[in-house]
Amino acid sequence: MQEFPPKSSLDPSKFGDHTSTITAEHIEKNLEGLTVQQALESNRLYILDHHDRFMPFLIDVNNLPGNFIYATRTLFFLRGDGRLTPLAIELSEPIIQGGLTTAKSKVYTPVPSGSVEGWVWELAKAYVAVNDSGWHQLVSHWLNTHAVMEPFVISTNRHLSVTHPVHKLLSPHYRDTMTINALARQTLINAGGIFEMTVFPGKFALGMSAVVYKDWKFTEQGLPDDLIKRGMAVEDPSSPYKVRLLVSDYPYAADGLAIWHAIEQYVSEYLAIYYPNDGVLQGDTEVQAWWKETREVGHGDLKDAPWWPKMQSVPELAKACTTIIWIGSALHAAVNFGQYPYAGFLPNRPTVSRRRMPEPGTEEYAELERDPERAFIHTITSQIQTIIGVSLLEVLSKHSSDELYLGQRDTPEWTSDPKALEVFKRFSDRLVEIESKVVGMNHDPELKNRNGPAKFPYMLLYPNTSDHKGAAAGLTAKGIPNSISI
Ligand SMILES: [Fe+2]
Repeated sequence: MQEFPPKSSLDPSKFGDHTSTITAEHIEKNLEGLTVQQALESNRLYILDHHDRFMPFLIDVNNLPGNFIYATRTLFFLRGDGRLTPLAIELSEPIIQGGLTTAKSKVYTPVPSGSVEGWVWELAKAYVAVNDSGWHQLVSHWLNTHAVMEPFVISTNRHLSVTHPVHKLLSPHYRDTMTINALARQTLINAGGIFEMTVFPGKFALGMSAVVYKDWKFTEQGLPDDLIKRGMAVEDPSSPYKVRLLVSDYPYAADGLAIWHAIEQYVSEYLAIYYPNDGVLQGDTEVQAWWKETREVGHGDLKDAPWWPKMQSVPELAKACTTIIWIGSALHAAVNFGQYPYAGFLPNRPTVSRRRMPEPGTEEYAELERDPERAFIHTITSQIQTIIGVSLLEVLSKHSSDELYLGQRDTPEWTSDPKALEVFKRFSDRLVEIESKVVGMNHDPELKNRNGPAKFPYMLLYPNTSDHKGAAAGLTAKGIPNSISI
């Protein structure tokens, strides 16, 4: 976090003032003796900010039957033992005042379980989880992996011949992506489909995803840039991957940086075989046509964005190919295959909320005092939505028995170039080394965040390159397939 209290970037002429109402008093008791300023300056404060993205949709969403959601901000403190712990949750609902959509907000702070206030804190966390599970499915998963990949798949097939080295490099990372996206359009993301039934914004789900796409930047999708943008890392030339994590024990980032770096090395070594200098790339009419169509037609809504690489230098091509491979493989694996293992128990990860936080003196509050579990269940995802939603998460989280993992190819004859084969072998070997590093870290008692209270080791970015027999089929919660195929 850079500033306290958190500010809003919503247009004040439409929304008024949406600055957070969380105060130092709410959180200072839990900062291990630090002031807010000291915690900020030492990078110990973090925010899960679902306020600005959700607020513009809340009036419409909350007019849908069976829906009541808040926009949420959650502050976390990085404790001395390296763990993040929640400090405060702000729940905000829109109110119209003087023609502006301003917010009515309330702040909740942690209360141990065992009292009605403890259940109020549990409910506050549930409202955050509802925001977060919707964001995960519609943005982190559908938009940022499945949807953005399509233009690359289509233009590669239209402009690069199958013998072109860039086609050979990228094609394994497109396997079955168009097929699964076509299926998704028939049953998941279509109007009245499973997403709308089970994810909170109902019929506004895809509209929200489309608004977020306007701010999608290809150049921010690589892991190091993403971590820096999200305030989870800073540039540091002396660190092994040129970035230093601010939460050092952050399993997705620690494993992901190793994978990102392995892909980057592989792509750079491979392209160096075919592009001895920038002039060769500039004169490669297939690659230039491929890139032009990707930008101007595939991602046509963003074609005038200033950040698109111009594709005039070999490092630009290498970074672009590394990013495409990263999105299709590790990024998708990290957001897809943990869905059932981490989110399959809905009371822990609700997808919908149906009514307000109960206020003292109301019948709902009396129910919370009398029978808190029943009140909790009546607030979150309904039974039928849960059954459909969990079934979907289970299907999405399964690896097929013919999965091809990163560092594997379907046929050894994908190229007859011995230099390319050698480069690919080095890539596979590095991934197998990363496998043992991941297992080693999961057994390291110094690392507190890799197993969690459920003693469930983080394996989503364990590459599984060494498994050539499809031994890891089904709900394994591990392995990085080459492509988005589920
Ligand atoms: Fe997926």
